[in-house]
Amino acid sequence: MSKGTILSGMRPTGRLHIGHLSVLENWAGLQDEYKCFFMVADLHSLTTKFDDTADLPNDTRQMVLDWLSVGIDPVKSAVFVQSAVREHAELHLYFSMNAPLTWLERCPTYKDQLAQFEKQGKDITTYGFLGYPLLQAADILVYLADTVPVGEDQLPHIELTREIARRFNFLYKTDLFPEPKALLGRFPLVPGVDGRKMSKSYGNDIAISAASDEVKKRVNAMVTDPQRIRREDPGHPEVCIVHKYQEIYNNELLEYVQQACRSAERGCVACKQELLEIVEQMLAPVRERRARYENSSYDDLRQYILNVKENLAGQSNSQANDNDNDNGKDNERLPETVVARFKEFTGTRREKNYLREIGQSIIDDYMAGVFSESDIRDLLDAKLDLVSLILVKGGQRARLKARDTIKKVREAMNLKY
Ligand code: TRP
Ligand code: SF4
Repeated sequence: MSKGTILSGMRPTGRLHIGHLSVLENWAGLQDEYKCFFMVADLHSLTTKFDDTADLPNDTRQMVLDWLSVGIDPVKSAVFVQSAVREHAELHLYFSMNAPLTWLERCPTYKDQLAQFEKQGKDITTYGFLGYPLLQAADILVYLADTVPVGEDQLPHIELTREIARRFNFLYKTDLFPEPKALLGRFPLVPGVDGRKMSKSYGNDIAISAASDEVKKRVNAMVTDPQRIRREDPGHPEVCIVHKYQEIYNNELLEYVQQACRSAERGCVACKQELLEIVEQMLAPVRERRARYENSSYDDLRQYILNVKENLAGQSNSQANDNDNDNGKDNERLPETVVARFKEFTGTRREKNYLREIGQSIIDDYMAGVFSESDIRDLLDAKLDLVSLILVKGGQRARLKARDTIKKVREAMNLKY
């Protein structure tokens, strides 16, 4: 069934924009064919934002909601947070022992970013930032991933990963690591509505989670042909940002639009109206999914756990039972534990009543044998929130594979004791 293993990730920047859809669509489409690991690269955020971590939890949550809303399926794929799987840090350290400094200094993203931050008056000449691509190599290789779906900007990092893999295999006379290849999406880069690079910080983006009126505002603000002042002036679609979007999202009409624009038959209002409808159509199912994940009930949490169990049981490897070996002796006391944990939750009276109800459902499910003790622990660790539960479960699945690789790495390196 499986073609191979995929790992990819993004730094938690909060809500994503439609420029990210190309990569995300790529991820979503690969989930049936590959074993997939999708990672929130929070450690990579620290390389530049080590002094500003207050938004990390919320940015992580918003980004994961975006992933889920475009069709990343947390039952099929492991969705997790990088820093929660310590094996990334361990492999990064091992790699740092034999990665030549020049390989890192030579990396094109390194000098670029350094200069950019310097312009903003920020010094990021840290050990960690220099090691950015090395950490990325560890991210990929700790899962022995052979395929990495990313945007074009990441190609130098994938190339370095291949070099690191080759060097390790050579040094320790092993064939443990594959040399992973990048897999690019089908869309080119989407510009911001003002023609600059699309970015939240420029205020020229269209968020994946944007409500209709927000999308409308941004489409209306889109730059067209600056030389076309009056409706009767002939237009130049090749310089028009609306047209760039049409090229990406609506290429059936392209020839007609170009001709009608040049002959001034068509006005910009018509183009924008059409584009707005297309973007709305694209985002409607995304909004719907987001709402379902955001406003999840206990039934959703329960269903998620059951689906994961079923999915893992269907796979021939033995990972499914990894954390279900807990039918130990203190099971009878579990209901009390659950009740005690619920008393720790704070909130309004209504919220507490709701939690009490859920607590009873959990105990009922446990008694009926639907859940194991570890399922319940996961639920409680996730504070009964579906996104958190997904990350807890995803972390477990990732860790299983990562641990296995680290064991082999240590063997290859003669780290015996
Ligand atoms: N550097 C990537 C970015 O900025 C994020 C990332 C971290 C990543 N680790 C990765 C991407 C591993 C692919 C594979 O988007
Ligand atoms: Fe752009 Fe359409 Fe206006 Fe031509 S008519 S300039 S393609 S928005």
